[in-house]
Order: sequence, then C-alpha cells, then structure tokens
Amino acid sequence: MEPSNPIVPQTGVGKRICIVGASGKLGQYMVRHALARGYEVVGVCREKSVPKLAEVADRITVFGGDTNDREVIAKAVEGCDAVLTVLVPWGVDDYASGTARAVIDHAKPGARLVFSCGWHISRDGKDVYSWKIKAAVAFARFLRFTRLLDLDDQYRAADLIFKSDTRWTLVRGSDLEEGPSEGLPVWARRVGDPILESNMTRRIDYALFMVEAVTDDTLVQEAPAIVGCRTPSALAHKQNAA
Ligand SMILES: NC(=O)c1ccc[n+]([C@@H]2O[C@H](COP(=O)([O-])OP(=O)(O)OC[C@H]3O[C@@H](n4cnc5c(N)ncnc54)[C@H](OP(=O)(O)O)[C@@H]3O)[C@@H](O)[C@H]2O)c1
Repeated sequence: MEPSNPIVPQTGVGKRICIVGASGKLGQYMVRHALARGYEVVGVCREKSVPKLAEVADRITVFGGDTNDREVIAKAVEGCDAVLTVLVPWGVDDYASGTARAVIDHAKPGARLVFSCGWHISRDGKDVYSWKIKAAVAFARFLRFTRLLDLDDQYRAADLIFKSDTRWTLVRGSDLEEGPSEGLPVWARRVGDPILESNMTRRIDYALFMVEAVTDDTLVQEAPAIVGCRTPSALAHKQNAA
C-alpha cells in the first residue's frame, strides 16, 4: 500500500470513511484509494480475514465481524461521513440484504452510502441484457441449492437501497479483471447502452469509482452501470461524441 500521495486530490482530509468488506479484493483497493485521498479509514471484515489487512493495520481501524452483524456495523459506521459497502450474496442467511439494512439503519443521517453489485441488478427493469448475462444469472440463481450462494438476496439488498431515502449510490460493476489503473470508469444509466458493450473494468478502477462517488453528488440516488474508460466501447463513444 502506498502512503498518502499529494498528487491525488486530498478530498478526504478531515473526513472519516467506513469500508464494509475491506479485506476482499475490491475492499483492499478501496482502502488504498481512500488513504491516498487523506480519509481516516475504518474497515469491517470477517474475523478470520483481519490478517489480510496486516499491511495497513497501523493506518486504519479494523472491526472484525460479519458484515451483516448489526452491532459491528453500528460501531464501525459511527461518525463516518461515508460508508462504502461490498455487497456479496454468500450463504443463505441474507448476508447481502442484512449488510445493506445494517448500513442504512446505522449510518449517520446525511452520510454518503455507496454500495457495489453487478450489472444484473436493475433499478427499473429497463436494462437490456445479452443472452450471456441472462445465462450467467440463471446459473448463479440455480446455485442456491448448494447453500453457498443466494443471488436473490443481492436483489433484496438492492430493493432496500432503492427504497431508502438516504444519499445512496449503487455501483453496478461489469465483468472485472486485474491490472494497473486505466482511470475513472465511464457509466450509463442502463445496461444495453452501447458505451458498456465491452463489459470489462479493472477492479482497481471499480474501487476508484466507488471512492470518487463519495464526492460526486450527481451520483446520489443513481445506479450507474460502469465500464473501463479505455475499453473499445468507451473509446468509441468518446470518439463519436467529439
Ligand atoms: N467478480 C466479478 O466479476 C464481479 C462483476 C461485477 C460486480 N462484482 C461485484 O463486485 C463486488 C466485489 O466482488 P469481487 O468478486 O471482486 O470479490 P471481492 O472483492 O474479493 O469480495 C468478496 C467479498 O466477499 C467476502 N466473502 C467471501 N466469502 C465469504 C463468505 N463465505 N461469507 C461472507 N463473506 C464472504 C470477502 O470477505 P473475506 O475477505 O472475509 O473473504 C470479500 O469481502 C461485489 O459486490 C460483486 O457483486 C463482481
């Protein structure tokens, strides 16, 4: 993890941010972006995953516990100006919806709440999906019988967010890949927009979008579907707009 970088705008100085799901791949990138912007960072992750944050342990406060544990979330989000939440539909105990509910209920009034999910979540049913995405969703739903995954719980989490009167943003990720940052992803209101055609974002840039959303009021109560800014579809859109 790099130290605070003066070249990065110090938009987080004097502000506290909570990252729920901080130990995962997306979470660790978000921690890094938040520290670089000068935020005081609080992380939440499962007890057994706390060691994954060893590299930043002296720079952040970590609360170990399940992210749908209301007591853990209540303590972690106390006094936070923003809460970034990785929504994951693991298990069959309402992990995603329980996490979303705990964050919505306990975050301080007016806090910026930014959640992650995939393109499969639709706010108004007007997204247009390829057969590949439809098949992947059907397969993921089918996996509920293994009791390892409950994709429908991520839909329930999204419904809670959409109905909430908080200052939320639900960032809908495309397929993800690793690699160095290419810059802030571009977005569209609906899947099916040609700008999203490439369906690929660097995970580090997905995290960047989540952190930058905190200070972007145009994203309040929006569910942007994102794609990498250097992908062919994003570049073609830029060229057409020029
Ligand atoms: N993967 C994709 O291609 C993709 C595409 C679009 C959108 N997204 C969205 O991106 C976000 C991050 O997903 P990711 O795939 O990149 O993974 P990730 O960042 O590695 O996050 C996985 C999270 O799930 C937690 N987790 C793993 N197993 C668990 C379990 N059994 N019970 C409870 N929590 C568990 C991890 O915590 P520990 O550190 O404790 O294991 C971690 O916080 C999600 O919101 C996802 O919907 C992903």
